[in-house]
Amino acid sequence: MQTLTVGLGTRSYPIHIGSGLLDRAELMQQHVPHGRVAIVTNTTIAPLYLERLQRSLRSIDTSSVSVILPDGEEYKNSETLNLVYDALLKNRCERTTPLIALGGGVIGDMTGYAAATYLRGVPYIQVPTTLLAQVDSSVGGKTGINHPLGKNMIGAFYQPKMVLADTDTLNTLPDNELAAGIAEVIKYGLIRDLEFLEWLEQNMDKLLARDTAALQYAIERSCRNKAEVVAADERESGERALLNLGHTFGHAIESGMGYGNWLHGEGVAAGTIMAADLSQRMGWLGVEQVARIRRLFERAGLPVTGPDLGVEKYFELMGLDKKVEGGRMRFVLLKEVGRAVVQADVPQQLLRQTIQACAHG
Ligand code: NAD
Ligand code: GLY
Repeated sequence: MQTLTVGLGTRSYPIHIGSGLLDRAELMQQHVPHGRVAIVTNTTIAPLYLERLQRSLRSIDTSSVSVILPDGEEYKNSETLNLVYDALLKNRCERTTPLIALGGGVIGDMTGYAAATYLRGVPYIQVPTTLLAQVDSSVGGKTGINHPLGKNMIGAFYQPKMVLADTDTLNTLPDNELAAGIAEVIKYGLIRDLEFLEWLEQNMDKLLARDTAALQYAIERSCRNKAEVVAADERESGERALLNLGHTFGHAIESGMGYGNWLHGEGVAAGTIMAADLSQRMGWLGVEQVARIRRLFERAGLPVTGPDLGVEKYFELMGLDKKVEGGRMRFVLLKEVGRAVVQADVPQQLLRQTIQACAHG
């Protein structure tokens, strides 16, 4: 097991990464003062891992209430969130009853938001079971739900007490979900870790073949990058915005196509190519560098072209981005491969050209 720390003073917490961690409930013991937790999961993950986690918790004399939600991005909304509150209230969960998010980013984001708001805040623990959740969404305390008008528009910054990433759970993950996680892994290389990007170029085949050592390394290195950024800028007043490379376009794709039709990581992949294309039009990247980025996403089996929503629809959806400031859109772009910046005042003409060139799938 490898342990990293997200350094946030008194709210610092560990990220444990390794094989067999679902069986290691003792790692959570200090956060379970009264021997009771509520596990939030979904209909896909429950048959795979719920009983195992419950057994593990029983070994530390802890009982659990289970909340099993419908599976899918289309359920990441206020109706589903209410099901969590209903179950917590019916089962008389208290301020000291921790919530455990057992699942991917959808479960993690919703459980975190339920924890931030139930009884004005209860502790929660992330047990991520997708690659995307293990490398990104379980770390950093961004919680929330979608709104019909925009992705992740309702939420709170609320940090977990710990992250317990059992890498064995990735064995049951479908291939397209593994690839979606790789999109966020590539992101760290592109925005701030060129050496990691080069490692990914050399080791992509191993990751796709689920080589244990390669996956463990990619998860650790991604979490290290994320933990550093979050510790430096928890509430996204600066550097943290760089973690949204590809997300302005990607979120527009996700909501424009209807939640659940494009995976989040797929939207990020196509969105990152659009951001790279725009960076080239700004005069920062060369054609060869954009091609290099495209090749890596293609090797991971990810989409490199956005859907044809129409330029105006992209503009409308991107205008709802959380980075909009004073009514102006801001984009995360690449000054060079391995270095990202946030840029306002992107000429509309260039943006139109990027959408026309990259979104015709
Ligand atoms: P997801 O949670 O929908 O999980 C993907 C699918 O895999 C689901 O069908 C799920 O039930 C299934 N699954 C999960 N674990 C499994 C396993 N071990 N074996 C088999 N199937 C399994 O999607 P995701 O990619 O994990 O997360 C995407 C979400 O995360 C989006 O809503 C996105 O907005 C959010 N996100 C949040 C942050 C953040 O910082 N909070 C960062 C990135 C993404
Ligand atoms: N996934 C973006 C962030 O955590 O800030």
